[in-house]
Amino acid sequence: MENEKGASSSTFKMGNSAQERSLPYVPHCYAVPPSYEPRDALDSKSESVPTIDISRLKGSDDERRGVIQEIRLACQSFGFFQIVNHGIDQSILDDALAVAKGFFELPAKEKNKFMSNDVYAPVRYTTSLKDGVDKTQFWRIFLKHYAHPLHRWIHLWPQNPPEYREKIGKFCEEVRILSLEIMGAITESLGLGRDYLSSRMGENGMQVMAVNCYPPCPDPKTALGLPPHSDYSCITILLQNLTGLEIFDLTAHDGSGRWVHVPEVKGVLKVHIGDHVEVLSNGLYKSVIHKVTLNEEKTRISLASLHSLGMDDKMSVPCQLVNDENPVRYRESSFNDFLGFLVKNDISQGDRFIDTLRIKD
Ligand code: OGA
Ligand code: NI
Repeated sequence: MENEKGASSSTFKMGNSAQERSLPYVPHCYAVPPSYEPRDALDSKSESVPTIDISRLKGSDDERRGVIQEIRLACQSFGFFQIVNHGIDQSILDDALAVAKGFFELPAKEKNKFMSNDVYAPVRYTTSLKDGVDKTQFWRIFLKHYAHPLHRWIHLWPQNPPEYREKIGKFCEEVRILSLEIMGAITESLGLGRDYLSSRMGENGMQVMAVNCYPPCPDPKTALGLPPHSDYSCITILLQNLTGLEIFDLTAHDGSGRWVHVPEVKGVLKVHIGDHVEVLSNGLYKSVIHKVTLNEEKTRISLASLHSLGMDDKMSVPCQLVNDENPVRYRESSFNDFLGFLVKNDISQGDRFIDTLRIKD
């Protein structure tokens, strides 16, 4: 076989990507430019990230106030926190990870039924970010599908592995309930009240499940699983089987920032503040910039559940958070607006949706 080391991105379209074929080397188009990805910014492997016991949201008024204060601090500093005592059974988490892994182990023919580059498709299998299109490629394979309301979408999901729909469906339902609880705490922490978004995120809200697989990579120093980006959701709840997630701490080193490695602790879920909570808070909370690093031996699986308003429902800055010192800092936008952005822009080169929403002083 001809060596494809120097081949351009278009050689590695889905179905033919280096990661799907387990190539024993990393082609050049997977190499992340050093200017874009300063690796030495990572200065610690054992950094602590905020961890919050959210069972106390259901406790006494004092306990709830305490958790809300912890959430406020985490959203202001990192735009990220981990949650424990979230109430989802370990077996539901384990089953979801196992069945997701099972999907990626299926023969190509089975996975390719869902292959699509259409960002509007409610179910799609693809690789990288936009495979074969973006200048830089990423060592990732994923299945993305809508998940709420479940009965509207579940019949479109894979039927193979046979338990896929049941196990992922259960996970999606439980995580969605959790997302509403957390969003209630977030809006409360902003002084907007617990129900500020409950009807718009409840029945009419969107849930998109990104089921990610990062196969072992022959050169994890060269390639990435996902480039630095923020999520376009209100919040994302993430489950992983192995470490690999890193978040950017904007406040470190007098504002020059640093990468923080997120440890893996069984049963712990991660919460990312997405672009739409940054807008909701008028910039007080920051959507977290995060990336995925790779592993030479093991396959990493992650389930990222993105929760947002309905497809065309626009998130705008609440008037309660605007005054003379705090003018409106962001334009309003919807999930659909984000999809339009995704089609036209290259996230792999650092383009961010949130930057298009900022109103300059
Ligand atoms: C994502 C994402 C992180 C991970 O899907 O947006 O950031 O750990 N995933 O896979
Ligand atoms: Ni993400």
